[in-house]
Amino acid sequence: MADFTFADLFAGIGGFRIALERAGLKCLYSCEINESCRQVYYENFGEYPEADISEIDFSTLPDVDLITAGFPCQPFSICGRRRGFSDQRGTIFFYLCELLKHKQPDVFILENVKHLLHIEKGKTFQIILNELRNLGYFISHELLNAKDFGLPQNRERVFIVGSKYKRFEFYKLPKITPIPRLREFLLPQDNFDYLSPEEYTLIENPKQQDSGLIFVGYRNKSIWKKGVRPNTEHLSRVHRQPNRIYSVDGVHPTLPSQESSGRFFIYLPEEDRVRKLTLEECYKIMGFPDNFKKTPSTADAYRQIGNSVATTVVKELIREMINQEIFSGTPNRQKTAISEKSLPPVQLTIPGLSVRSPRTIPSVSQTG
Ligand SMILES: C[S@@+](CC[C@H](N)C(=O)[O-])C[C@H]1O[C@@H](n2cnc3c(N)ncnc32)[C@H](O)[C@@H]1O
Repeated sequence: MADFTFADLFAGIGGFRIALERAGLKCLYSCEINESCRQVYYENFGEYPEADISEIDFSTLPDVDLITAGFPCQPFSICGRRRGFSDQRGTIFFYLCELLKHKQPDVFILENVKHLLHIEKGKTFQIILNELRNLGYFISHELLNAKDFGLPQNRERVFIVGSKYKRFEFYKLPKITPIPRLREFLLPQDNFDYLSPEEYTLIENPKQQDSGLIFVGYRNKSIWKKGVRPNTEHLSRVHRQPNRIYSVDGVHPTLPSQESSGRFFIYLPEEDRVRKLTLEECYKIMGFPDNFKKTPSTADAYRQIGNSVATTVVKELIREMINQEIFSGTPNRQKTAISEKSLPPVQLTIPGLSVRSPRTIPSVSQTG
């Protein structure tokens, strides 16, 4: 696997890179626009990613076997305003298409929030899949949950795999059992931030939900209100979620990218106490290594890990991709690449939408 190379687009703090390097792949290129993420990336991987994808001269990019992209999810996220492609940031997807068209890697992996499947009753997602097929790839997709890949977090994300020679079969991807409990990922000693008993209410007979969460109680409202900025009470999802308390004998809810104070509270039955999940534990339940260097800004560190990809999911994905021999370098590859000439050209704008004019697609050298 050491011979396989990849480019890490929309790299964030390098979740894909951690997973792929663990699997033995070599990163040849990265891009990420956010300064704080770029600094974290440099401190962990020794290189600054290039910044804005729309400014990149694709002809300068190295050839790679795999391109990964957790493309920006704000316009698609349930926490955003559900505008899909009508948000300018949604059009970043089309820069990604341009880059894929130009570079023609054997395989690409895209990751995004679950809500991407449901925007405009699935229309946005169908546009995305069609655009990717039009680039000359077999496309398959699946909703994968971090809890099925060795992490104690109920985190569903949609993964799209494009492959040139052979379709990737998600149903063959093995899941890791049993699902770990959050307690297995807790750090032994720290200066924990405990709540006092009057700050929370525990419910009677808590039960494990199908999701693996065990909801045990909530922070009392008078106290919870203290942390809420005036006129933001309507942002119920953002503010309500940290108010809930979950047992360490289940999994943890999704770490969201909007939470900047880490208001995640966990119940420890043996102590009959509630404490805050630490920042280090947040990185651990995303599969980041203990020695990962975080930004000194706590708020940014929480946002960055909430925005990242669960590393174990990517590691298992790549392992299965190699098993299924979807790279041209693997033995017995099937040379059944879709002929690009038989496909319609990439549609870089959505009719009826006013977006930035896309730049001209550079000429594409045909491979495969
Ligand atoms: C969902 S996050 C991906 C996180 C990444 N997978 C990780 O493991 O940390 C999307 C990233 O795209 C970056 N981004 C947004 N617009 C960009 C652009 N025009 N060019 C490059 N990166 C961009 C954001 O700063 C954000 O870090």
